[in-house]
Amino acid sequence: MLATALHPSAGTAETGVAESVEASIAQLDMQISAAEQAAIVSAITSAREISRIAHQHNSPAHGNLYRRDAHAKATGCVRAEFEVNGDIPAQFQQSVFASPGHTYQAWVRFSNGDMLVQPDGKGDARGMAVKVMGAEGPAIAPELGSGDETGEANQDFIMTNMPAFFNRNIFDYAENMQHLARLDRKGWFFSLWPPRLHLKETIRAYQTVSSKIDTPLAEQYFSMLPYQLGDTTVKFSSRPCPGAHYRPTVDTTADDFLTRQMADTLQSGSACFEFMVQPRPDNASADEMPLDDATVIWEEEKAPFIPIARLHIPPQTFTGEAQQQFCENLSMNPWRGVGAWKPLGSLNRARRLVYHAVSEFRHARNRAPQVEPANWCVPGDNTPCTPQQGLNIRKPVWPLPRCFDGLFQPLDGTAASSQCTRGYGAELAEGEPAY
Ligand code: HEM
Repeated sequence: MLATALHPSAGTAETGVAESVEASIAQLDMQISAAEQAAIVSAITSAREISRIAHQHNSPAHGNLYRRDAHAKATGCVRAEFEVNGDIPAQFQQSVFASPGHTYQAWVRFSNGDMLVQPDGKGDARGMAVKVMGAEGPAIAPELGSGDETGEANQDFIMTNMPAFFNRNIFDYAENMQHLARLDRKGWFFSLWPPRLHLKETIRAYQTVSSKIDTPLAEQYFSMLPYQLGDTTVKFSSRPCPGAHYRPTVDTTADDFLTRQMADTLQSGSACFEFMVQPRPDNASADEMPLDDATVIWEEEKAPFIPIARLHIPPQTFTGEAQQQFCENLSMNPWRGVGAWKPLGSLNRARRLVYHAVSEFRHARNRAPQVEPANWCVPGDNTPCTPQQGLNIRKPVWPLPRCFDGLFQPLDGTAASSQCTRGYGAELAEGEPAY
């Protein structure tokens, strides 16, 4: 826990935030310029204002709850297994990827990007935040707390379904947030007076807010920002496993159809993502693959993505009230990680403080405990906490039914009646072909 006044009791005015940011930076020994520090203060102040305004808009229709100031609406928090590939190249065997073949339990929070809770059919960025539990190694940001008392820590991977961000760096971001805190969504991108046009950023923002999807399970998600994994600079991404296909089955006019679609798929089926890294070639130029301009997409032809892990999402039920509450109270942070892992660039440096501050703010307002999960169990769920809690496992019922098709004739000439009412051995309706 940071010993600073990032806690909301320190007041929401920019001066209070400034003091607490300064104290945090000193305590964490972060090497940050004065200008960058001021931008972080501004970003936190705006984030709190956004959280307050969004609260007015979102409640009481969506519950009297302070939500995240970004990615406010979860479309579902699901249990997953994160398996490091057995053939992961040696250069990536670092941090949570240190042991080839190792499988971790994980949580995945799928979300819509806006600060307001909106119908799922509205265009928006879509988020995928993965929390891998029980990684071995020293936490890179111990102030964020670890999963349990065993010395193991969690590692978060935070992505959206866009390969690039709509702000280059923390300075753009802080200015943009000031407009957003006045509910002026377009002001920073273009205005007639003072004359302003951020063309590339406007295109990126337009692409972001116009994304409409059928299911969160079929999207590709991107880190957008770079990280250091061992000696390699990478971006990361997750995409549906080859051959994964999810049939649309629900009415897409419902406000929460993405949740319903995922629930329907995972009722008896499973889902799978490949987790990939995109190593930055040593000879890449600062223009083509910059480390502090998040509007630039690193070309895949020059820097291909390499699969290094898999995320399996087993059949499960995830829509219970206790689980939705748990999902709201989760905290993701790009700095939650272990070993040779480091978020890069000014936006990532800011995220270490901003995510933490905003998470503390909403937890305090909601009087909710800030706890890091260590397993798949959901507190307050009335089912026992077992390693399979929440999974839909089909068990055979004993005695197994005796199923015969119509051609089976016992040798003693007696009649055999099938006990199966569906599938193989079921009695055929008149005219139905027996094959
Ligand atoms: C450019 C890459 C970024 C990506 C991929 C990203 C993605 C996300 C996602 C997916 C979430 C939801 C996390 C969850 O499910 O709990 C989130 C939350 C959030 N993001 Fe970002 N974001 C990015 C940049 C930023 C930046 C630069 C800032 C501010 C400096 C920021 C501030 C926040 C905050 C405050 C939250 C809410 C955190 C909480 O209350 O727990 N994001 N972001």
